[in-house]
Amino acid sequence: MKISVIGGAGYVGLITALGASSMGHEVIATDIDEKKVKNLKINLSPIYEDNLDSLLKFCNLHNKITFTTNSNDAIKNSDLVIVSVGTPTKINGEIDLSQVEMVTEYLKDSINNYTLIVIKSTLPITAVNLMKKELDQKFKSGIDYDIISNPEFLREGRAVHDFYNPDRIVIGGESKKSINILKEFYSPLIKRNLNIPNNIHVSDEKIPIVETNLPSAQMIKYGSNAFLANKISFINEIAQICESVEADVNDVIFGMGIDPRIGKNYMQPGPGFGGPCLEKDLLALVELGKHFELESTFMKAILERNERQVELIFKKITNELNDNSVITILGLSFKADTDDIRNSASVKLVNMLIEKGYEVRSYDPKAKYILKEKKYAQYDELYTSVETSNCIVIMTEWNEFINIDLNKVYELMDKKFIFDMRNILDKNDERLNKFNYFGLGN
Ligand code: UDX
Repeated sequence: MKISVIGGAGYVGLITALGASSMGHEVIATDIDEKKVKNLKINLSPIYEDNLDSLLKFCNLHNKITFTTNSNDAIKNSDLVIVSVGTPTKINGEIDLSQVEMVTEYLKDSINNYTLIVIKSTLPITAVNLMKKELDQKFKSGIDYDIISNPEFLREGRAVHDFYNPDRIVIGGESKKSINILKEFYSPLIKRNLNIPNNIHVSDEKIPIVETNLPSAQMIKYGSNAFLANKISFINEIAQICESVEADVNDVIFGMGIDPRIGKNYMQPGPGFGGPCLEKDLLALVELGKHFELESTFMKAILERNERQVELIFKKITNELNDNSVITILGLSFKADTDDIRNSASVKLVNMLIEKGYEVRSYDPKAKYILKEKKYAQYDELYTSVETSNCIVIMTEWNEFINIDLNKVYELMDKKFIFDMRNILDKNDERLNKFNYFGLGN
C-alpha cells in the first residue's frame, strides 16, 4: 500500500513510518521541520529511543521509505494518510489543534482518489468532527475518503518494541470498508511478515484486534491513559500514608498485587507521572467534560495529586538539609531510557531548589537541561556530579543509578544524604547504613 505519515519526524510518526515500511508498504514520511527531515535521510534520528537508530538505518537501506517536507505531494499519491501530528495543551488548558487544522488543509488540497485518513494523534472526537465537516465541503465521506481512529499505545523508551509487540490494535471506524483497509495495512505485522533488523524482538503471540466505532476508539486511548495516571496518583497517595503509619509501600504493593484484580504493574511510587501524554490526556478529558457540561472531578483529582507529589519531595528534602547544602539531582528525563524532559518532575524540582537558594547539580545519562543560573550546573559524569555534594536525589530510574557504586559515592560525598525518590535502591543494603537514606513510602 502507498502510505503517507504526516508528522513523520515526530515521536509517534517516525516509529509508525518505519514500522509501516518494514511491513512492506511504500512510505512517505512528511514533516515541516526541514532539519529533522534532512537528518532522517542520513540516518540521524531526532530522538533517543532504544533500537531506533538501527531500525532507521535498516529501513533507509532495505525498505521503501522517503522523508520529505512536502505533505501535499505525499497525500496525492497515498492510499492511506496517517495523521501523527502533535496536539499540545495551551496555557489555558485547551487542546492546541493548529497542527491538525493544517493537516486538514493539506487533505482538502490534495486528496485525489479514495483515501483512508488514519488518526494516530490523540484527538478529541469534537476535533475529528470538525475535520469531517471541513472535508465534506469538498468531498463525499465514504466515497472520496473515510476517517478512522487507530490510537497508539507506545511508551517512550520502549516504543520500537511496543510497535512490533502491541497488546492490541484498536481500530475505530464508521464503515466496514475502512476497517478492512486498515486491517490489510496491519496484516504483515499480524502475520509477522516483517523486514527488520535481527536485534528487534518480535513475539509470536496473537495480537488482538479491537473493532469499534470512531469515538469508542478515541475513548479507549483516553481511558487507558487516565487509568494509568490514576494508578500512579493512587500509589503515591498510599506511599504517603505508609510513611505516616510506618508501613513499607513495597510490601503493600506486593501484597495488594497478588490479587489478580489489582496486579502489581504500574504501581511504582515516584515523583509523579510526567511526559507528553498522561497529563495532556487527563486535561483533554476535563475539557471534554466541560464541553458536555460534565464536571470531571475524578480526573482533576488525579492531576492535583500528581502536582502535589513534587512539592512533597521538595519538603522531604528541605526539612533535612541546611540552607547552604549542595544537592545533586540524578535523572532529568521524566522516566528512564528516554532523553525527554517534557513535564519532568525532576526539572521542576531543580527549579524549586534553586529558588530556595541551594546549589544544584544534575546528571542524566541522556537528557539535557540547560539553565543560565549561577547556582546550577549539569555534569556529564555521575561520580563527578556527587563529588563534595551533600545530598543525592534520585529522580529517574536509570540502570546506571540502580547499579551505583555506593562505597565510591560515600568516599566522594560530603555529608551523606540520599533521597531515593524511585525506590530503586534496596533499603536493606548494608552500604546504605552509612548514609541518611530516605525512600518513598518506607
Ligand atoms: C504513556 C502510556 O504508557 C502509553 O501507552 C501512551 O501511548 C503514552 O503515554 P509514556 O508517557 O511513554 O507512555 O510513559 P509511561 O511508561 O507510561 O510512564 C509515564 C509516567 O509515569 C512516567 O513519568 C513514569 O516515571 C511514571 N510511572 C510509571 C510511575 O511513576 N510509576 C509507575 O509504576 C509507572
